[in-house]
Amino acid sequence: MKRRQILVVGGIALVGLPTISSLIYKAIAKAPDLTKSPYEPAAAQPSEPKSSNNLTNTNSGIIPEPTEEPLLRFAAIADNGFGSADQFAIAESMWKTYQQKPYPFVLMAGDNIYPYGEISLAEAYFEKPYAPLLQENVKFYAALGNHDIIKSDGGLDQINYKPFNMSDRYYTFTKGTVDFFAIDTNGNAPWESQLQWLDQKLAQSTAPWKIVFGHHPLYSSGRHGGNSQLVSILAPIFARHKVNLYLCGHDHGYERFNPINGTTYIVNGGGGAPLYQFGRSPQTAFVSSQFSFMTFDVYQDKIITKAIANDGKVFDRAIINPSL
Ligand SMILES: [Fe+2]
Repeated sequence: MKRRQILVVGGIALVGLPTISSLIYKAIAKAPDLTKSPYEPAAAQPSEPKSSNNLTNTNSGIIPEPTEEPLLRFAAIADNGFGSADQFAIAESMWKTYQQKPYPFVLMAGDNIYPYGEISLAEAYFEKPYAPLLQENVKFYAALGNHDIIKSDGGLDQINYKPFNMSDRYYTFTKGTVDFFAIDTNGNAPWESQLQWLDQKLAQSTAPWKIVFGHHPLYSSGRHGGNSQLVSILAPIFARHKVNLYLCGHDHGYERFNPINGTTYIVNGGGGAPLYQFGRSPQTAFVSSQFSFMTFDVYQDKIITKAIANDGKVFDRAIINPSL
C-alpha cells in the first residue's frame, strides 16, 4: 500500500502531497516549449495595448491625493526581463517617477530574465535597464517566474544573484508597517514546506499590512488565466491571515480585482514582455493590457495603488483598506 502524505496547513488537511505537487506542476509550471524561442512573435498576441475597460473608467478623478507623505512608498514590476524597448521605456518611466517621488525598493514578481532565466543575461536585462535606480541604491526583491527556473539551476542562480535580494526560494522581510512575503509559485517549489512556512509566518505577523507576491495569478482574465489549484491552497491562507494584497504577473498586462475575501489581487505583468489580450471577470475592478509598473503609497489607514504607463500617466488608482 502506497503511503500518502497529507499536507496539513493551519489545521486543514489539503490533499496528498504527491497529488498536490503533480497537480500544481501540471497546472502552473507549464515551462515554455524549449524548442520555441520566446522571442518569436507569440501567436495572436497583440502588440497594441488592448483594454476591455474604457480608460475614462480610471479611478484617477475619484481618489483625492493626500497632502501628507506616505509612511512608505514602493514600486512593483513583473514579466520585465525581456530586454525589449518596451522594458526600457517602463524602466525610464520608473526612473522619472522615482525622481519625483522616490521609492526605496521594487517588488519584482517573476520572469525576471527571459528566455530561460540565464543569469548571464542579468547585466543586459536587469542591470542596464534599471541602472539609474540601482545607482540610487534602490533595492529589487525578486520572486521566481516560470521562465526563471529553466536554465538557472532550477532558479538557484537567481537566488544567489545578490541584486535580486532573495534569501531563498521564498522569504519575508519587513519595511515600515508592512510585512512582505515572496513566494515561489512554480512547480519545482518545495510546496509542503513553503505553505507551512507561509501559514506560520503570517500567523506570527503583527504588522498592520501584509503583502504577498509571487509570479502566478490566482485570478486573471489574461491569456493564462486564473488557477484553481493555487486558489485552493493559497486563498484560504490569505483569508485566514488577512493578507491585504497579492501581487503577481505571468499574464502580460494589468488587472486589478475587487477584494476577494478581504484580499486585493493584482496582475501587474506589463513590465516589458509582449502583451496579452485580457478579458474581464465579474470581480474585475479595472483591466488594461498595456506596458506598466505600479507604485504603492502606504499610510496608516490605507494603501494607495497606482498603475503607471510608459508615458508616466497613472491609468488606475485604488485604495486598499485595512482588513477588518
Ligand atoms: Fe510567466
